[in-house]
Amino acid sequence: MESESVKILCIDDEDMIRQNLYDYLEDFGYTVMQACDGVEGIHKFRLFNPDLVLVDLRMPNMDGFQFISSIRTFNTEVPIIVISGTGLIQDVIDALRLGAWDYLTKPIEDMAIVEYSIKKALEKRQLIIENNNYKSNLEKIVELRTKALNDSNILLNNEIIYRNKAEQALKKLNEDLENRVKERTIELENSLDNLQKTKSKLIQSEKLASLGVLVSGVAHEINTPLGVAVTATSFLSDTVTDYLELYNSIDLKKSDLDKFLNTTVESTKIILKNLSRAAERVNSFKKLAVDQTSGERRLFNLLEYFNDILESLHPKLKHTKHIIHIDCPSNLEIDSFPGAYSQIFTNLIFNSLIHGFDGVEAGVIDINVQLDNDIINITYKDNGVGIIADHLTKIFDPFFTTKRSSGGTGLGMNIVYNLITRTLNGSIDCKSEAGNGIEFIIQIPKYL
Ligand SMILES: Nc1ncnc2c1ncn2[C@@H]1O[C@H](COP(=O)(O)OP(=O)(O)O)[C@@H](O)[C@H]1O
Ligand SMILES: [Mg+2]
Repeated sequence: MESESVKILCIDDEDMIRQNLYDYLEDFGYTVMQACDGVEGIHKFRLFNPDLVLVDLRMPNMDGFQFISSIRTFNTEVPIIVISGTGLIQDVIDALRLGAWDYLTKPIEDMAIVEYSIKKALEKRQLIIENNNYKSNLEKIVELRTKALNDSNILLNNEIIYRNKAEQALKKLNEDLENRVKERTIELENSLDNLQKTKSKLIQSEKLASLGVLVSGVAHEINTPLGVAVTATSFLSDTVTDYLELYNSIDLKKSDLDKFLNTTVESTKIILKNLSRAAERVNSFKKLAVDQTSGERRLFNLLEYFNDILESLHPKLKHTKHIIHIDCPSNLEIDSFPGAYSQIFTNLIFNSLIHGFDGVEAGVIDINVQLDNDIINITYKDNGVGIIADHLTKIFDPFFTTKRSSGGTGLGMNIVYNLITRTLNGSIDCKSEAGNGIEFIIQIPKYL
């Protein structure tokens, strides 16, 4: 604090001492006010609000003790320095107890002591003021911080409430999702089940389709020999009727008898031949049909069986110029599943007719069979349109067809694949190039 602005109240009943102090302190730049006793001292204190008070103890009207205690009732901070001539320790103690800061004795021998005490008191006061400022500042800061903390606490609480809500929502969403996944899984399982059922129905209908071909083959193939037998029988019946007439008349000659006998023998031969042919066909068709439907295992001759199969396909082939060559050892007897063979080759030949020879007038199918170390090697070739590489990899996949619009199921080759690899424990491979026909290489162990 600059000394010019410092106001000092000097209270003493001895004019000389007051004047001395006044002169001395004014010289140092303090503003000094004077009072001659406690009463005036209080009055001037209220009037000027001094920064420091110098007070004597023994004074008339109101002494220094009374002055100090009265000032301290409303001002605890102003420095009060007692200057007394009594020199009593008890005075010192009382004055300090009432709130004086320092105590100097009169007569004042060295004014510098007063000046020193004033400076120290002012410094101490300054420190107290600063300390108080600091305290109240600190309180303000604490208050601000507390408020900020409270605010962020509220924010935090809001955030917690919001998070909790979000968590609840998420949990609910998760549950919903799980339920939906469960529902979808059940739906998917059901549709997979349906798909399996449809697939096995389709496979069944594919099997029935080749059986249907067989039945129509039966009808046609026995119609011809039966027709011939019927014609021969009615011819024979006419001949017998004619002969009976002759027999009853008188002109019966030996030549008539010869002719009648000849005709009868020839006709009977034709009838017998055609009826047994029809019976044979019925038998072989029966075998094929039973094989296909029952799936039973038995001993059979492979070449003969191939011929039976071809015969059953005759109605499909007879209006075309397509040719089927079979090259197979005639003595190859196998104990296996003939139904599987008839299904496999019916499917392969049908595919050649429908897909391979689409747009081909006279196609050729070559079936070559060789026995090699108890492995039956079969190559099946047609010289049709072949397959593009992209389709070749899918040919055995179920439902792969390039003829869906005209009723293809895409199951034929899958059935062939399953029969060869599962029923006959063999393998099948397919080679083809667009425009260059198709080749199937089939290997089946002779002994299953
Ligand atoms: N001999 C063949 N020549 C050309 N393509 C063929 C031949 N055999 C089969 N394919 C092809 O393989 C596909 C699958 O045959 P497949 O499984 O029997 O079904 P689908 O005959 O019902 O179409 C056919 O759609 C056809 O594209
Ligand atoms: Mg097919």
